[in-house]
Amino acid sequence: MLQLSPHLKARLSTPLKIGALEVNSRVLQSPLSGVTDLVFRRLVRRYAPESMLYTEMVHASRLQHLKEIPIIMEIDPNERPVSIQLFDCRPHFLAEAAQKAVAEGADTVDINMGCPVNKITRKGGGSSLLRQPEVAEEIVREIVKAVDVPVTLKTRIGWDDAEITILDFALRMQDAGAQMITVHGRTRAQGYTGNARWEWIGKVKQVLDIPVIANGDIFSVESAVRCLEETGADGVMCSRGTLGYPFLVGEIDYFFKTGEILAAPTPVQRLECAKEHLEALYEYKGERGIYQARKHMAWYAKGFVGASDLRSNLNKIETVEQGVELLNKAIDKLATGYEVIEEKEVVMSQ
Ligand SMILES: Cc1cc2nc3c(=O)[nH]c(=O)nc-3n(C[C@H](O)[C@H](O)[C@H](O)COP(=O)(O)O)c2cc1C
Repeated sequence: MLQLSPHLKARLSTPLKIGALEVNSRVLQSPLSGVTDLVFRRLVRRYAPESMLYTEMVHASRLQHLKEIPIIMEIDPNERPVSIQLFDCRPHFLAEAAQKAVAEGADTVDINMGCPVNKITRKGGGSSLLRQPEVAEEIVREIVKAVDVPVTLKTRIGWDDAEITILDFALRMQDAGAQMITVHGRTRAQGYTGNARWEWIGKVKQVLDIPVIANGDIFSVESAVRCLEETGADGVMCSRGTLGYPFLVGEIDYFFKTGEILAAPTPVQRLECAKEHLEALYEYKGERGIYQARKHMAWYAKGFVGASDLRSNLNKIETVEQGVELLNKAIDKLATGYEVIEEKEVVMSQ
């Protein structure tokens, strides 16, 4: 049975304090570009009523040319606490964007200092800020001056193995006024490969006074507990583990609060959730929502007999009706005794 050390139990029994903001959960849903839109966040929120959620990253200077708030910045007042994540390298644009984020209802403003994508780092944003700590500092200072909500950031441990600069960088961000830092335990050069190096997150925790959130390879309740025990971090943030699985943050939160493991959703429940996700995306974004839904549907259709065929069919849907029909057929099949036997075989062969 999964046990918590007395130390960790004590930590989990108090709220996460981000500046003046108190969040009654120590597991967070990460910002995921192309994923954590309002529709996805509503699903996560259902299972994790108190956790901090993040929008997709928003390009700050792009807001200069828009008359209205773009759809990726939209917040439902019922989904708070929620943070809007911004990326850019120009302090002035970021400060203005932060004000718009707060006007939209953001409880914190988060700055992306970890994105490894060339298109973004070439222009000085994302993880390239690790190599320009003076710019990163100015960004934090400008935003802190501009808004009255906590300013936080999410970054990596360094640019590459020769430049693991996170300790100095994190201290500088704290000095500049950041109220929380999330550390993804990989370098920019690692991308998403290899293991997240949680030992570096533990070192960051030792030198900072502000909360440190551990990110990278949190795929289960067990990994969340192990990460907090090993790093001493103030909370964990889930990312790829939530793709096609909006239950994860809630499962971890429930364990942190009760010491009990929730039963995992069955394949039928996951496909029911996929259907709801598809319909809601269509309702919210129209046709564009259907194309975006394809990848989500493929993530949901996993771990049962026939999943691979279902994935390739879902990947071609042109209308919401096609998707619903495919999902309904799969649900009907899974609901028969015959399929349950097959499911058991799948579990045994894993
Ligand atoms: C599809 C995808 C989109 C992402 N988008 C963002 C983003 O918008 N902002 C951000 O800070 N990190 C983003 N990330 C990085 C994740 O938040 C996280 O740091 C990374 O996946 C490591 O955690 P994991 O090993 O648990 O997946 C993204 C990752 C993926 C896979």
